[in-house]
Amino acid sequence: AVDIQSLYARHGLLAYDPGYRSTASCKSAITFVDGDAGILAYRGYPIEQLAEKSRFLEVAYLLMFGELPSAAEEATFREAVCQHNLLHEQVISFYRGFRRDAHPMAVMVAVVGALSAFYHDDMDIRDPEQRLNAAIRLVAKMPMIAAASYTYSIGRPLRYPRNEYDYAGNFMQMLFGMPNKDFVLDPVQARAMDRILILHADHEQNASTSTVRMAASSGANPFACIAAGIASLWGPAHGGANEEVVKMLIDIGSPENIPKAIARAKDKGDSFRLMGFGHRLYKNFDPRARVIQESAREVLAHLGLENDPLMAVALELEQIALRDEYFIERKLYPNVDFYSGILLRAMGIPTKMFTAVFAVARTVGWVSQWLELHNDPTHGIDRPRQLYVGPRLRDYPHR
Ligand code: ACO
Repeated sequence: AVDIQSLYARHGLLAYDPGYRSTASCKSAITFVDGDAGILAYRGYPIEQLAEKSRFLEVAYLLMFGELPSAAEEATFREAVCQHNLLHEQVISFYRGFRRDAHPMAVMVAVVGALSAFYHDDMDIRDPEQRLNAAIRLVAKMPMIAAASYTYSIGRPLRYPRNEYDYAGNFMQMLFGMPNKDFVLDPVQARAMDRILILHADHEQNASTSTVRMAASSGANPFACIAAGIASLWGPAHGGANEEVVKMLIDIGSPENIPKAIARAKDKGDSFRLMGFGHRLYKNFDPRARVIQESAREVLAHLGLENDPLMAVALELEQIALRDEYFIERKLYPNVDFYSGILLRAMGIPTKMFTAVFAVARTVGWVSQWLELHNDPTHGIDRPRQLYVGPRLRDYPHR
């Protein structure tokens, strides 16, 4: 029999790093995270400053092109996004093929993947201009794709983009606008949505972004690559967490049930975890959580929901967990999802749509990383290795 170990020895050094947790898979100049110091910066700008001072399309430009846009550059970029924000009527007909109770992320994976069939034959990813065009198309179309997955699920006619609104406002009018009725955009909620999009726009080489890069490394169509990213984002350990946070807070119901939930989270025989707590990188605090907590308070006050029972449970849960040895020792702090669920819920976004909102925001990060990968002429196809632990080579038995 062939000795597998000697085979590995002949192939040189092999690092065993399950899930690549200690492996840098690429060089990137887009997003910087220092988990111990609680720092997140896009192209060097701290997330807190971007959330306070900029708007989403400005941040999108920054992530995609590397610098904040001048007024003229921003106007041109916005015009390009507005020009591409409609879905092809044939794509719209796809929605009717889904069950009404389908999860919006399931619909989004499929619809975004299907766009590769629309922008394929004439697409040469070796051409920088065509790459940029694809990236802008993706950013532009995502709000309508997400909003249509919601309106379809509730049987309301879909709404088209209206370019008098900014990116976040447009997304909201497509989500909430009623047929034959003027839509009145609430500026406080629109700003909160804009912030949510900024905070979720990129987060370096997380699972979904690494998935996009992995798919892109083979030269795959960009729409197919982003569909792969949406699939990866869907999971409850990643983008699906804010949905789980709200379910958990509803289950807990009132502050007196919190100790029971905390005890379950600490019990190693119980698979229950405090959703919205802990982060692979942030072992101090998640800087996005602070900004979003502030936004949640602002919107709840604006809507007269200061006494929201979910918020009361969340605040109390946070306080109890932050004093608990188990969470202190393991450096488990609230992450961005802990408060984003409450905020989105207060804004009337249905729980099932939470991850879809995240996907709209993260598309900017995904396309920026996709552009970066293709702008690097040295990149080749990704090919992780494995440690084979199966049977040694053996002969097929005579039977
Ligand atoms: N509740 C209870 N215990 C937890 C939690 C939690 N939320 N998170 C981690 N732990 C415990 C683990 O049981 C483990 O304990 P042990 O050392 O006694 O075995 C220890 O903390 C380390 O846990 P890991 O899973 O190894 O930590 P990791 O950094 O790999 O996981 C993760 C990060 C997946 C986010 C985890 O904290 C978790 O599952 N959190 C809940 C889900 C969540 O909120 N996800 C959103 C992430 S943010 C985002 O995607 C935008």
